[in-house]
Amino acid sequence: MPEEDDFTVTPYAVEGDIDYDRLLDRFGADALTEGQIAAFPDPVHPLVERSVFYAERDVEPFLDAVSEGSTHSIVTGRGPSGPLHIGHVVPLYFAKHLQDQTGALVYIPFSDDEKSFLKDVSIETISDRSRENLLDLLAIGFDPDRTRIVVDTADADVIYPLAVAFAREITQSTVDATYGDPENVGLSFYPAVQATHLLLPQLVRGRHPTLVPIGIDQDPHVRVCRDVAAKQRYDVDKPGALLSKFLPSLGGPGKMSSSDEAPSILLSDDRETVFEKIRTHAYSGGQSSVEAHRKQGGDPAVDVSYQLLYYFFEGNNERMEQLASEYRNGSLLSGELKDIAAEKIADFLDEHQQRRQQLGPLEDELQQYRLTQLERETARNRAGYPDNSLTQQ
Ligand code: TRP
Repeated sequence: MPEEDDFTVTPYAVEGDIDYDRLLDRFGADALTEGQIAAFPDPVHPLVERSVFYAERDVEPFLDAVSEGSTHSIVTGRGPSGPLHIGHVVPLYFAKHLQDQTGALVYIPFSDDEKSFLKDVSIETISDRSRENLLDLLAIGFDPDRTRIVVDTADADVIYPLAVAFAREITQSTVDATYGDPENVGLSFYPAVQATHLLLPQLVRGRHPTLVPIGIDQDPHVRVCRDVAAKQRYDVDKPGALLSKFLPSLGGPGKMSSSDEAPSILLSDDRETVFEKIRTHAYSGGQSSVEAHRKQGGDPAVDVSYQLLYYFFEGNNERMEQLASEYRNGSLLSGELKDIAAEKIADFLDEHQQRRQQLGPLEDELQQYRLTQLERETARNRAGYPDNSLTQQ
């Protein structure tokens, strides 16, 4: 098999044993440097410090704006294709953390259109899933004054005219070269929609640095959007990106995915289910018997329970080092490590679920996060629609 072909990473497929460094060459993004990591607001989030977010495009203008205290925004979104699992919320919780630290504006688009082009599920099902996913999003507790949530089909009055403007800048051959031949015209058009998402903060608030923290599979959308911005037809800068590795699947290295053989851990799982899934399915870096493990020790680098703690659920570095060394020297058994991970994840989910239960009806809660009429008009104007356009009401 040719070297390039042993893994696939696109917005629509992630397969094989991913070589994250080679992927950067393929995509033309840069590894995050020590200096950039240190420039994140203090304390640097473990996801950045531990290189889960490991690569970037134009992260520096964003970090400069953070340190100067000037306007800066974050865009991170969700394709509502099914129930949320713990891998999906990593960028969302990260955005919440940065917003708390720096007062960042956060824009969260829901691409329900994209998922209906992609999956063989009805529009009704996607719509139900959007509602469920939105409740989970609201449970994260973003600041309503600084956060906007848009749903492509529900906020079509603003998304569609902007996407139309940007679609003119994206050729079919760019789409084919970036994504492979799209299956339907919806997927051909969708890059213009995601470009709209990534430029929306600047269209609403004027030109300013935007950062898109996102799984690296989404980088093609960022590239297409940056090309649109680079044409300078609109008063926007290219959005920057912070690209992450994937939370491992319980079954072993590889992205956690709803279509895996091993189950993913859902945001709705109760404690018992979390323990059961981890005890039964989490790939272990330990030895096959207790005696062998006590003698030879385990390998945290391939142990999924350890990796889940490292990636997201245990922020304390000393604790991580202690677990790694006890695992390597055999004093910590696989089963014990699994229970430590399960406990942490179950605590996280408990808190999330409690916040979700306290929410009122979705429409009421969502209201405070929707774009205002003025924001909608401003965005359409900046995309070139005149005041007398029929899109303005
Ligand atoms: N396409 C993303 C996905 O499938 C969801 C998404 C839509 C998104 N717009 C976005 C993610 C903007 C980040 C930024 O998961």
